[in-house]
Amino acid sequence: MSLHIEGLRAGYGRIEVCRDITMEVADGEFLGVLGPNGVGKSTLLGAIAGSVVSSGRVVLDGLDLSGRNARQRARGGLALVPEGRRNLFSPLTVQENLQLGLRLLPAPERAPTQDELFTMFPILASRRTQLAGLLSGGEQQMLALAVALARRPSLLLLDEPSQGLAPLVLQNLAEQIGALRGMGLAVVLAEQNHRFAARLCDRYLVLSSGEIAGGGDREALQDAEHVATALMAA
Ligand SMILES: Nc1ncnc2c1ncn2[C@@H]1O[C@H](COP(=O)(O)OP(=O)(O)O)[C@@H](O)[C@H]1O
Ligand SMILES: [Mg+2]
Repeated sequence: MSLHIEGLRAGYGRIEVCRDITMEVADGEFLGVLGPNGVGKSTLLGAIAGSVVSSGRVVLDGLDLSGRNARQRARGGLALVPEGRRNLFSPLTVQENLQLGLRLLPAPERAPTQDELFTMFPILASRRTQLAGLLSGGEQQMLALAVALARRPSLLLLDEPSQGLAPLVLQNLAEQIGALRGMGLAVVLAEQNHRFAARLCDRYLVLSSGEIAGGGDREALQDAEHVATALMAA
């Protein structure tokens, strides 16, 4: 599935945050959206997912999602893992959270998809009756990812999954996200942590004051100094 975005503008009431964003995500591609706090990464991801009001065109594999609400976009194949794992309900168990994600699937697909997710995230299987709020930060991020994957999206929007996690946990999380390549999924990864993004992305864009201010390919992204300079300039 490929994503095509043209002339996207998004904001809150009269405050315009993202301006004239035009970008593509190819089939199976992992695209990084990098930039410091406050440049509009979450607004951009929310606008794509339909949780933030926007204008412009959002087309997912030929299906025009412009003007559609978040639920319709989810049905079209988009899934957002929001910043701070806000798609989780802390008083519910791991399994109950997953079931909320699975609700969007036709009934016969739910049980096999749940089994698949528990195989993919064995730590969640072993914690299935535990309350989400009592999981470690890393485990919560895995669950947030699993809940989004439960609806079998074709494009995953990941908002700062590295936030607040220790280096050892990040290693594990990067491996789990990297393993999604096998599923043919495209990913847009918003990050301040460019080293984390560099482990995963094929290409990246730098966002500055809500506009695309630069970008590069995988090689440029591996060059931490190059990216740091681009981010400073942004
Ligand atoms: N719900 C909101 N209402 C008004 N302004 C917001 C809201 N959310 C974010 N903003 C503003 O939009 C700008 C971009 O925020 P955000 O998209 O969260 O950036 P980032 O994810 O890159 O840190 C910031 O100036 C922020 O204060
Ligand atoms: Mg953000």
